[in-house]
Amino acid sequence: MIFKGKNVLVTAGPTHEAIDPIRFIGNHSSGKMGFAIAEAFANAGAKVKLISGPVCLNTKNTSISRTDVTSAKQMYDACLKYAPQSDIIVMSAAVADFTPLKTSKQKIKKTGKNLIIKLVPTKDILAELGKRKKKNQIIIGFALETENEISNAKKKLKIKNLDYIILNSPNDRNSAFRYDTNKITIISKKGKIVKFGLKTKTEVAHEILKIL
Ligand code: CTP
Repeated sequence: MIFKGKNVLVTAGPTHEAIDPIRFIGNHSSGKMGFAIAEAFANAGAKVKLISGPVCLNTKNTSISRTDVTSAKQMYDACLKYAPQSDIIVMSAAVADFTPLKTSKQKIKKTGKNLIIKLVPTKDILAELGKRKKKNQIIIGFALETENEISNAKKKLKIKNLDYIILNSPNDRNSAFRYDTNKITIISKKGKIVKFGLKTKTEVAHEILKIL
């Protein structure tokens, strides 16, 4: 019960950005990594707030308080609400970087012509939490990189004012999106780099807790 008395905020899953009432822009995140982290903290005695995008997963530990959101904007609002009272924040959600400028109220009908959808950037939730970081608060981000992995992850760690960044790469076999396993590298703000082999997402979650 090493995290007893600690408030932990975990985000998980993708976000869906609506094009019209039927369609959305999303990504392949399953939420498995974030849910495993939430379970690990709850099993270690923490009070866990899980903010999840649209996923097909259930929580096991009944002490996890879950809020479901759909869009990046909704995840932003929920995170800003719960972050101030959190001792530890783990941002494992795959938040959309772009959202349609306009959401059509009705289903967009086909016309036989090209459809151009203008996308605008979403707010970077983690960067905002980093700006508002409280004394003694620990913020952990994820980085999904396909090239220059370590140096890109280090840049994100610094720019977003994080304590740790967890790098995973969809280039690694059976790693990152959708799989039950993941291969991660944890980089601390002091520059310490710890590489792990392929592990189940539950094992990865425990490695993250151990580092803390
Ligand atoms: N993140 C966030 N809000 C966003 C985008 C990303 O909070 N709008 C968080 C993710 O949850 C993750 C971290 O930022 O913890 C890094 O996400 P990643 O997709 O790897 O990188 P980006 O910052 O989006 O940068 P890029 O897409 O240019 O690699």
